[in-house]
Amino acid sequence: AVTLRADYRPPEWLVPETALDFDLDPAATRVRTTLSVTRNGSHAEPLRLDGAGQEPLAVKVDGVLVNDWRIEGEQLVVPLAGDAHSVETEVVIAPDRNTQLMGLYASGGNLCTQCEAEGFRRITFFPDRPDVLSRYRVRMTADSARFPILLANGDPVAQGDAGEGRHWAEWNDPFPKPSYLFALVAGDLAVNRGSFTTRSGREVQLGIWVRASDLPRTDHALHALKLSMAWDERVYGREYDLDVFNIVAVDDFNFGAMENKGLNIFNSRYILADPDTATDYDYDGIAAVVAHEYFHNWSGNRITCRDWFQLSLKEGFTVYRDQGFSADQGSPAVKRIEDVRSLRAAQFPEDAGPLAHPVRPDAYQEISNFYTATIYNKGAELIRMMATILGPQAFRAATDLYFDRFDGTAATCEDFVACMEESSGRDLGQFRLWYGQAGTPRVSASVDHAPGGGRATLRLAQRVPATPGQPDKQPMVLPLKLRLFGAETGRPLTDERLVLLDQPAETVTFEAITERPILSINRGFSAPVVIESDRTAADLAFLSAHDDDPFARYEAMQQLMLDTLVAGAIEGAADHDAVVAAIFNTLENPELDYAFMAEAVLLPSESFIGDQLAVVDPEAVHRARETLRRAIGQGLADSWRQLYAVLQQGPYAYTPDAKGKRRLRGVALGYIAASGDADTGRLAFRQFEAADNMTDRQAALTTLANGDYAEREAALDIFYNRYADNSLVLDKWFQTQALSSRADTAALVEQLAQHPDFSLANPNRARSLIGAFGVNQRAFHTAGGAGYRFLADQLIALDTLNPQTAAKLLPPLGRWRRFDEQRAALMRAELERIVAVPSLSKDMFEQASKSLEG
Ligand code: ARG
Ligand code: ZN
Repeated sequence: AVTLRADYRPPEWLVPETALDFDLDPAATRVRTTLSVTRNGSHAEPLRLDGAGQEPLAVKVDGVLVNDWRIEGEQLVVPLAGDAHSVETEVVIAPDRNTQLMGLYASGGNLCTQCEAEGFRRITFFPDRPDVLSRYRVRMTADSARFPILLANGDPVAQGDAGEGRHWAEWNDPFPKPSYLFALVAGDLAVNRGSFTTRSGREVQLGIWVRASDLPRTDHALHALKLSMAWDERVYGREYDLDVFNIVAVDDFNFGAMENKGLNIFNSRYILADPDTATDYDYDGIAAVVAHEYFHNWSGNRITCRDWFQLSLKEGFTVYRDQGFSADQGSPAVKRIEDVRSLRAAQFPEDAGPLAHPVRPDAYQEISNFYTATIYNKGAELIRMMATILGPQAFRAATDLYFDRFDGTAATCEDFVACMEESSGRDLGQFRLWYGQAGTPRVSASVDHAPGGGRATLRLAQRVPATPGQPDKQPMVLPLKLRLFGAETGRPLTDERLVLLDQPAETVTFEAITERPILSINRGFSAPVVIESDRTAADLAFLSAHDDDPFARYEAMQQLMLDTLVAGAIEGAADHDAVVAAIFNTLENPELDYAFMAEAVLLPSESFIGDQLAVVDPEAVHRARETLRRAIGQGLADSWRQLYAVLQQGPYAYTPDAKGKRRLRGVALGYIAASGDADTGRLAFRQFEAADNMTDRQAALTTLANGDYAEREAALDIFYNRYADNSLVLDKWFQTQALSSRADTAALVEQLAQHPDFSLANPNRARSLIGAFGVNQRAFHTAGGAGYRFLADQLIALDTLNPQTAAKLLPPLGRWRRFDEQRAALMRAELERIVAVPSLSKDMFEQASKSLEG
């Protein structure tokens, strides 16, 4: 069944008040729900309540048992005569058999919930749609010894002894909210407490709840939470609105975290960190996700989504907000580089493949499949473009208007854009196409300049590729920041300009251009597009050294590398000198910081190189990249050795400078390894053993795992034994091997799937092996199709446990059109095998069947 955006109708019944009474037990939890319902408008429709896999034990209307209800599909239909009633239902659910991790489930002996998007219907009968806002009161009763801590949304009201070794607690959330924001947690948990005073003087009790042994790993998350609260006040004028804010970390979780009102529930990988077990990258991820979920309190909870087609209203905007937060904590340039890299790694392929969809989709079979890089990351780019077009003051005024006008409501993407427009007075009519048209626009850019000076002419043209269901596209509004630099003097010839390209083709002229201009375009990645320009290797090298926009500098270097790698993959050989020289210049530039250098000198990934080719040849891509890596390693051997020595640090510190040094030293180690020098194994192993932090240890392990070193096995064993009781670090152990560039990785991954510590039941573990393998282009596409068969087998098995997590791991198989005929046929065969599985989930069916068609 397909749900269409065009079919949206307001709810027939509203639910101003909801009272939930949980008798908690892992095997059988009794849920009594009392809804006050009111008819919305004048119609004669019965009350329809969603309930997945539920049987009502009893239904009462206004306190009286009734039996004129019926079940239609997954809905409980209750005929109601008047306009306002109290409706009570009772169900029994089994959290310990909930392997989907949606609704109420057990994790590590505790009970917790996940309701977005449609999990609440697995807990009780309710109109489970985001535009039904209700005030919730929750009572929980549970065994006092097993579940000493009872948490729910909002503020705690009362608690007491229930006799027979049980106790109870009541929580009340004064803010009306959609059912997907409901949460409860019952368990044996310890808390790291803090407090935050809002600028209007509300003192908020903060708590990060984890199992007692994890308590020492919660300080970073708590600190990030306080920083987020202050940042949202300062940058968006948004204050927190309850007296408590709790975060609970659980090991079994389908994604990163969830913004339930006043009770965020997190995947433990986005909470737990200490230097010995978490990398700098992990620390950054924790701060970003803590901020993201906190920011949802306004962009998501106070203002929610009218329907799930509007998902990017809260997700795109909140990602944009968390990106801004992270940029302000460290280097904005490096943060932008990282964000663009992940957009290109995850969203561009999505936009170019069978699962392409607009930021505001028109149809879905299973909404869980739409928590995508397009909704999140491309959605954030849309907000960023509007902020660029409006400028910072006007953008802030527009978000103020949005928060003010839609507070307490379920809104749409259109509402957001209309606020931007109304507040700023800018016409965003054509801009709205970004919400409806899928596909990554391609922009061609070339500059003509008459020798001898005078006028320069920039010719721009745009093209939006066809995507499934959208053969013809209209030209979009592309905000392109650009600037010209003089090829001879190296000086800027113009100011930075913002060009809004809104026609299929346009020219922009520049006067008084006295030397040959070199084009710097899409500075700061001002539009999420692909630029096709005729800039030569020399021009790109020039920009990589002289551009004043750090992103553009990085970008010029990437393009130079990419051109070299594509030539290498297609022709089997390429000239490496320009890249080697550009890297040398970057490393020698005293104005650049280490973290930026590290980003700038890293080669594009094999998948991204593959994305540039008409037909991906994974082995040719791998060879071209390894050849260039070796040339860089050997050509700059002295620089890498010297950096490696100089960047060695004293005891671990978590500061931007120390992080930057670790990062660049890790890159240096990688290039030393690439040079093929005989002492690499020893060097990496020494770093592995001497490291006093996970960043250095992991970098060394990665180098060893990618090669054929005598020390490889030993390092993997030591790492495994040292962290055998830490599941998050064991995930790294699996992931590092699944991402290995070795030729035998596919076989190794098949073996690892038999390892006693491997399990599909834990999403993090499944992703660490199966997910990582799927994005390892060389390994996954090993000739013969063993990788495809392995992935399909795993997904079919995982689908019976956890369809949502399984469906998320399918896209690598859907990229068959990008490969040679033989590989494409093998990939299709696996997709067909998946589609033919009897009782396949609708999550998997949608992804697999679209992948075959698209
Ligand atoms: N709203 C959560 C977040 O962005 C993610 C929820 C994901 N839900 C899903 N069904 N995939 O932080
Ligand atoms: Zn979110």
